[in-house]
Amino acid sequence: MALNKQIFDTLIVGGGGSGLRAALQLAEAGHRVAVFSKVFPTRSHTVAAQGGIGASLGNMQEDNWLWHMYDTIKGSDYLGDQDAIEFMCRKATEVVYELEHFGMPFDRNPDGTIYQRPFGGHSQNFGEKPVQRACAAADRTGHAMLHTLYQRNVRARCQFFVEWIALDLIRDYEGAVVGLVAMEMETGQVMLFQSKAVVLATGGAGRIYRSSTNAYINTGDGMGMAARAGIPLEDMEFWQFHPTGVAGAGVLITEGVRGEGGILLNSQGERFMERYAPTMKDLASRDVVSRAMDQEIKEGRGVGPEKDHVLLKLDHLGPEVINKRLPGIREIAIKFAHVDPIKEPIPVVPTCHYQMGGIPTNYYGQVVVPKNGNPNSIVPGLYAIGECACVSVHGANRLGTNSLLDLLVFGKSAGDHLVEWLKTNPQHRDLPKDAGDYSLSRLARIDSSSSGESVHEVGQELRRTVQNHAGVFRTEQLLSEGVDKIKEVAERVKHTHVKDKSKVFNTARIEALELENLIIVAEATLVSAEARKESRGAHARDDFKERDDKNWLKHSLWYQEGNRMDYKPVNLKPLTVESFEPKVRVY
Ligand code: FUM
Repeated sequence: MALNKQIFDTLIVGGGGSGLRAALQLAEAGHRVAVFSKVFPTRSHTVAAQGGIGASLGNMQEDNWLWHMYDTIKGSDYLGDQDAIEFMCRKATEVVYELEHFGMPFDRNPDGTIYQRPFGGHSQNFGEKPVQRACAAADRTGHAMLHTLYQRNVRARCQFFVEWIALDLIRDYEGAVVGLVAMEMETGQVMLFQSKAVVLATGGAGRIYRSSTNAYINTGDGMGMAARAGIPLEDMEFWQFHPTGVAGAGVLITEGVRGEGGILLNSQGERFMERYAPTMKDLASRDVVSRAMDQEIKEGRGVGPEKDHVLLKLDHLGPEVINKRLPGIREIAIKFAHVDPIKEPIPVVPTCHYQMGGIPTNYYGQVVVPKNGNPNSIVPGLYAIGECACVSVHGANRLGTNSLLDLLVFGKSAGDHLVEWLKTNPQHRDLPKDAGDYSLSRLARIDSSSSGESVHEVGQELRRTVQNHAGVFRTEQLLSEGVDKIKEVAERVKHTHVKDKSKVFNTARIEALELENLIIVAEATLVSAEARKESRGAHARDDFKERDDKNWLKHSLWYQEGNRMDYKPVNLKPLTVESFEPKVRVY
């Protein structure tokens, strides 16, 4: 079928923080940029980020980028690439000040400087004591950032395709990415988009878990597109569980609450983090706090009729601090936990929050794959940034507030790189004759199914499987059963039936397409996790309790074809400073 075609210089898939930051760089340089977003851009998941952006401005106490770099590497359990981490931590102050100049409404200190709060794992002088590094706009930092970037993009005349879903990348016969196929969600119209480059900025896929702080749109679309185009996914076994999701609801309660002085209590009223992390206590790294909470619950010191959560106490901060610094948290607690934190503690439980892995890239956002003996060979015309990418600055466990920083630094870096790259690649390459056929055949399968299971039922089974088999603590038995089950679910995904196609405005088709992306991420997660026989960062195995640098200080690569694993080295060499050698992590 002949499809209509539009032509741009660059296509950006995703209208969250990283996509908007990259788009801005390109649009301001005069390039024709299109941004595709399943939702209105200011409703992208970045809007849900609460606590702050990590940058060593030093507004509250002395700070510097090298301490930030150390905290990030230690937080990553030494799996992060040290060149990329140095790049990010050095750039942090610049991108925050830029945002300030774009008009971002940061909270202010009495002297007019940006307010910074303490956060998990942020320390002064290489772990000596906590430091206030998180640049905050109350507890709505992501919201403020997204609105600031969107307005700036409108001014720069960036073109938005709102409520469009990207389906597949188009690669030419030499493997270069030359465009994509996308569908307007309201009408079902499918179109070809030709471009000189494509940037994937589709965010994470936390919706593979049943209990998640992620938006429903976080279905791993960019990772699905990459994997279907033959690109491996890196470090997919590493999923961050945020210590404080509202028990039973999954909604995020920012770490900023503990930054402002909130504490975690077990059923005996004990501040148990003092036992697990004597120096950083409730502000230890997220993986450490989540495991401690899980341990307390397992040992019978959980709270509630099922003893299945712990409490986050903040009433001692007083109404003034809560209403000024944490107004959104108070609202969430009242709406989702039915408690007013000015008077009562919030019931919380570790909840899936963030994926450390994703599409492999370098720090310019260029997608890299192993080829002819080079582990980082560039895929021409393809970039990935933000949570869907693995650059890798988060390694096995991300430091809180480095997610917003990652979006800004690597969004800008990819935009800058593309502006230069477009100078030497000014022509569009031809689209292959069959561009679009593959996506149309996927849609035809979904549309023509006349029997089979519902997308919703299969999706529920997918989420149950990942939740039960790839949680905070993992074992060989849990993981290998999980791998078998997810393979069965993958077969079922191929035979789903969209019952009410004509009646529900295409949403059922969209869910079927999203399920095809979710299953890719779920398989990558379980297969990669089963293969890694050690505990590192967020990947905690009861049967391999120790980190094993001799055998496992390496990045995983999962290929969709054959459900196959490969590995590549971690870059332990920073750009200009000495390496931080792996050490035992204590907080
Ligand atoms: O706790 C939070 O506000 C989350 C921040 C983050 O994930 O970096």
